[in-house]
Amino acid sequence: MPEAPVIAVDGPTASGKGTIAERVAASLGWRYLDSGALYRIVALEALRAGIDTADGPALAALAQGLAPRFEGRRILVGGEDVTEAIRAEEVGIAASRLATQPLLRAALLALQRRARAAPGLVADGRDMGTVVFPDAILKVYLTASVESRAARRHKQLMEKGFSATIADLSKDLAERDARDMQRAEAPLKPAEGALVLDSTHLSIDETVDAVLGAYRRRVAD
Ligand code: CDP
Ligand code: CDP
Repeated sequence: MPEAPVIAVDGPTASGKGTIAERVAASLGWRYLDSGALYRIVALEALRAGIDTADGPALAALAQGLAPRFEGRRILVGGEDVTEAIRAEEVGIAASRLATQPLLRAALLALQRRARAAPGLVADGRDMGTVVFPDAILKVYLTASVESRAARRHKQLMEKGFSATIADLSKDLAERDARDMQRAEAPLKPAEGALVLDSTHLSIDETVDAVLGAYRRRVAD
C-alpha cells in the first residue's frame, strides 16, 4: 500500500509555518505535525535538567525517554502540560542550539515519521522536505522579511503574556536563522522542487490558498 501523502512546510522562524500548516491540514482533514515543538520540548527539559545544548549523547537519551503526547492543541510531557512553557523565546533559542546535534536529530527522526498516517500529514519545521519526508507530494518553503517576522512574533508573545522587545526579537531571529541555515546537519534551505512563498505581504488566507492551490495542481498532474 502506498504511504499516506505528506505536505512539507519548511522555513525560518516566525514565517507562519505552524499557522499555515495547521490550516492546510484542517482544510484537507489531514493530521498536523509541529516538528519544532519536539525540539522545544527537548530544550525545555534540557534547560531544567542542566544538560548542555552541545551534549549530543545526553540530549538523544533525554529525547528517547520523553514520549510527548499531542492532545489537540495541548502538549503533555510526563503528565505536565508544557504547551505554553515551550513557547518562551529562551526555549526557542536553546532549541536552535541543540538542533545542531546529529545524535539528537537522529533520535527525533522516527518519532516524526510515525506521525505519517492516512489520509495524509502536513508537517512543518526546517527539514521536513529535505530529510524527514523527502518523498513529500508537495514541499513548501515559507519565508518573510525579518522585520515582519519579528513584528508577528512580538504580537504573538505579547498575546501569550511573555515580554520581549521587537529589537531583541529581530536580533534573536537573525541569529537563529543563521544557526539553522549554516549547521552541517539538516540545514534550513528550500528542498529541491519546493514552492517558495514569501508571505511578507500575504495574509494568512492568501498563503493557505496558495498552498492548497499548489497541492491540487500537483494531484491533478
Ligand atoms: O511556525 P512559525 O514560527 O513559522 O510561525 P507561526 O507561529 O505560525 O506564525 C507567527 C505569527 O505570525 C502568528 O501569530 C501568525 O498568526 C502570524 N502570521 C501573520 O500575521 N501573517 C501570516 N501570513 C502568517 C502568520
Ligand atoms: O516557532 P519557530 O519557527 O521559532 O521555531 P520552531 O519551529 O518551534 O523550532 C525551534 C527550533 O528547533 C528551530 O530554531 C530549529 O533550530 C529547530 N528545528 C529544527 O532544527 N528542525 C525542525 N524540523 C524543527 C525545528
